[in-house]
Amino acid sequence: MKLFSSVHDVTDINALAKEALELKRNPYSHTHLGKNKTLALVFMNPSLRTRMSTQKAAMNLGMNVMVLNIDKEGWALELKDGAVMNGTTVEHIREAAAVMGEYADIIGVRSFPGLKDRELDYSEDIFNKFVKYCGVPVVSLESATRHPLQSLADLVTIEELKTKAYPKVVLTWAPHVKALPQAVPNSFAEWMCRADADFIIAHPEGYALSTEFTRGAAITHNQEAALADADFIYVKNWSAYEPYGKVMPGNEDWMLTNEKLRATNNAKVMHCLPVRRNLELSDEILDGPNAVVVHEAGNRVWAAQAVLKRMLEGS
Ligand code: CP
Repeated sequence: MKLFSSVHDVTDINALAKEALELKRNPYSHTHLGKNKTLALVFMNPSLRTRMSTQKAAMNLGMNVMVLNIDKEGWALELKDGAVMNGTTVEHIREAAAVMGEYADIIGVRSFPGLKDRELDYSEDIFNKFVKYCGVPVVSLESATRHPLQSLADLVTIEELKTKAYPKVVLTWAPHVKALPQAVPNSFAEWMCRADADFIIAHPEGYALSTEFTRGAAITHNQEAALADADFIYVKNWSAYEPYGKVMPGNEDWMLTNEKLRATNNAKVMHCLPVRRNLELSDEILDGPNAVVVHEAGNRVWAAQAVLKRMLEGS
């Protein structure tokens, strides 16, 4: 594997999830693979889980890890080709990415969307330029439109905790005060559309995701109906795709509560974290027996380790 940017880079998602669970059982079975190999993690935005779980995964494989918070510690990057760099940018992404490729065997990149220009965000301009110019395998640490390491960890969690072969999985929109990217729900949707699951998306009117990611999913504006008999509930806020990046007033009643959980099949509640308590998810859910959010975050290590292992095996 040379690129992990979406579900389209994986031939068999169930085999990859199985490999992640094997690594969970035997974390140090492949320490030889990463000997004398270096992973560089480049962050343009904050991170707790992605940073620490990917570092841990690389260390389990015997790799060395370098982390660069490029937004704070690097030179200001120029992205436009042909730019006359007489303003605030100091280094062009062409040189920056190529130089990083000289120091690392694999590069991970996090680059969030601006949520102002949909065409620009959905072109994955920054992420694709890293891929183009660095010359080594690249792992997405969350790009403008997708978060595949999170989605793989989510699949691993569902495979691990499911009690039936074909569980009902509901992705439900949740309230928030800020405009958040569509990367997590886009990505979760495109992985779940390929998973062994009865997959439904519930959101208020005005929050339809791009059909590029949701093809094959059932979609409803009726949260109550969607939650009936659910085995897994994936809670997440996102801003509108059209009008792009907007947050509509209202919809506070979309927050999940114990009362709503009663209609489910004792559903396990997932969230990628970080989560705003009592806005996106209630205390009673997060502190109750149905929440598996910390377990899910723990699985980020094995998801990242499975992907890095495949990249090392291919190098
Ligand atoms: N879920 C997730 O990606 O968390 P971080 O933003 O903390 O990495």
